[in-house]
Amino acid sequence: MFSGTVTQSDIDAAKKLLKEHNQEHLLKYADELKPEELSKLITQINNIDWAFNDRSGNKNHNSGTIEPMDAHLLDAIKDNYDNYTFIGLEAIKAGKLCLLLLAGGQGTRLGYDKPKGSFNMGINKDLFIFQLLIEHTLDVVRLADTWIHLYIMTSDINHEATTAFFKEHNYFGYNSDYIHFFIQELNPTTDLDGKILMSSKCSIAMSPNGNGGWFSSMNKAGLLDDIINSDLEWINVFAVDNVLQRIADPVFLGATIANNKMCGAKVISKNAPDEKVGAICLENGKPHIIEYYELSDEMKNQTNPDGSLAYGFGVILNYLFPIHRLKETLNVKMPLHIVKKSIPHIDDSGHLVEPDSPNGLKYETLALDLIHEMDDCLVFEVERSREFAPVKNKTGIDSVESARELLVKNGYDL
Ligand code: UTP
Repeated sequence: MFSGTVTQSDIDAAKKLLKEHNQEHLLKYADELKPEELSKLITQINNIDWAFNDRSGNKNHNSGTIEPMDAHLLDAIKDNYDNYTFIGLEAIKAGKLCLLLLAGGQGTRLGYDKPKGSFNMGINKDLFIFQLLIEHTLDVVRLADTWIHLYIMTSDINHEATTAFFKEHNYFGYNSDYIHFFIQELNPTTDLDGKILMSSKCSIAMSPNGNGGWFSSMNKAGLLDDIINSDLEWINVFAVDNVLQRIADPVFLGATIANNKMCGAKVISKNAPDEKVGAICLENGKPHIIEYYELSDEMKNQTNPDGSLAYGFGVILNYLFPIHRLKETLNVKMPLHIVKKSIPHIDDSGHLVEPDSPNGLKYETLALDLIHEMDDCLVFEVERSREFAPVKNKTGIDSVESARELLVKNGYDL
């Protein structure tokens, strides 16, 4: 960590570091900067985790023998509904379940510069995304008659705004003693040739390092040990942007326990071969998820003998993980996913550019890769019209518009 007055030797050391990584352009405007701006930039340079684009040690994902994976289908779940609900509720009452809301993303597709969870889905009244998620959780809190610990991952970019929003809204009725925020790490972004982008002459364009880093960020925040040493056995990890999802779902938890599975993944039956959801499958006999942008055309269209899609179950980013296994995965090098995104940056002449199509790369690890570290997984089908309303874009598919329609269909008054 470096801060304060910049000396010539600090500048020389930063230049040397950048030369080693072929990123010398980051100090291009150094002579124009005020001392405090230069100090900020050099601190940022010194804090770069240069492993951000290190692919050398990565397990070669999607390269083994890939096969379709069976799911626990809606009808079978319905047949066991009461039994699963009972088992799940008993586990929740016994304090075995905690929750993790992944809210560190930037939501670039939505084009909303505040935390995505603070977006208002209401039309004639306020109905914020965070509020909906808390209300879904409160349904189970009431049913089980016990508070459930809720961890919320933010990033440096949205932490203050997120915590202030919750406070301002009095945690939407949740017991704040049971809400725990922690911050994930950031990675630099680059152009398509791997050159780090700058958001201004004195700052690097950083972005959250993906939702796969949650367990190591929790560990760094000193939370993991507390969890591992408690009665907690399960963690339900979920995304901020599915406004219809069931959280702390006793049926899902009960089914995962009753079927003796190490973890669980909620899935929907894909509505088209190219729907933008990760496909669950087996890789070398172990559960595995292939992101939509990494699925080949051949696999997208492959069918079973009955005509259904072979890779037709998509994950909705709602998982159950066993806490005792998390610590063992801490040293696992997660595969790196490089995603093309539209990244605001300054151009060669120092002017800010706000591209409307992907111009650069973000470097992320993904929560879905944790599934691969588990021996088996309950692929738990949910009804898409009742549990899947993602808010990714402003309009069109997976948008504010489509999610509002689904909320109304599910009886919400907006
Ligand atoms: P997305 O993959 O949709 O990414 O996140 P995003 O950053 O929110 O949105 P776009 O792609 O820029 O439009 C899925 C979930 O993972 C969380 C998000 O907050 C969301 O709940 N996430 C994503 C993180 O917590 N950290 C990250 O670094 C990335």
